[in-house]
Amino acid sequence: MTDARIETQVVRTRADLRAALAAAPRPLGLVPTMGWLHDGHRSLMRRARADSATTIATIFVNPRQFNEAADYQRYPRNEARDLAICTEEGIGLVFAPSAEEVYPPGFDTVVSVGAVARPLEGAARPGHFDGVATVVAILFELIGAERAYFGQKDAQQVMVIRQMARDLAIPTEVIACPTVREPDGLALSSRNVHLAPDERAAAPVLRRALLAARAGWEAGERSGDALRATMRDVLATESLAIPAYVSVADGRTLAELDRIENGGSALLSLAVRLGSTRLIDNEPIG
Ligand code: PAF
Repeated sequence: MTDARIETQVVRTRADLRAALAAAPRPLGLVPTMGWLHDGHRSLMRRARADSATTIATIFVNPRQFNEAADYQRYPRNEARDLAICTEEGIGLVFAPSAEEVYPPGFDTVVSVGAVARPLEGAARPGHFDGVATVVAILFELIGAERAYFGQKDAQQVMVIRQMARDLAIPTEVIACPTVREPDGLALSSRNVHLAPDERAAAPVLRRALLAARAGWEAGERSGDALRATMRDVLATESLAIPAYVSVADGRTLAELDRIENGGSALLSLAVRLGSTRLIDNEPIG
């Protein structure tokens, strides 16, 4: 959706953000991002625009959520391109702060979510969700939006942020939006840019593995081990794909399941390394 009539205002400090928000018509819809925007972000922005009188996006590559310094350094960045996309999508306000503006000197607080943050990405990337919950709590507090929009591709992140907002009594409603995919099924991610051509060709195996397990479940398979084995078998068909985990977990707690009870919900998810790039994807069932 292109709306050339909307000028995107860019603010970089907490004070300028506060001033810009003072006059902003409500409700306010927030799309937090780390930049390198793609069609997944555009879909969040469109949903936010449809729901809100004012839309704000944040662009901040949050150092505290990277558990490897090299991963932070190589995270793709192009602010000029990101701002052009925000303008195309009719985003009225962008908050693009420096790390010092988000974490001023003396900053010494960590927001650490409990059980739902521990397995899967939490186990694989120690400290990652502390970094996510801390920065999102700060953004929620600074911006005070009625709603904030996140991609379902990061399903555990959505659950962690919901838990954080509920526990800290932050009234921003957390809205999860469907995963946007390439035609071959690869979930859009800023990290896809790092895939070499052969890795890119292999990457749809994540989706194939999830869909095979979904098909098993639809055919009546209820054993967690059997569904995990189905995903592993499909991943094994791509020699470049090195699984970090495959999971069949309870849809509310993320505890691994022995069985999916009839009528129960589950989250199928996986993380896979392709060369130096780590990709995740998931499929909710039930
Ligand atoms: O999903 C992301 O891009 C980030 O984790 C978020 C939510 C913007 C926090 O830095």
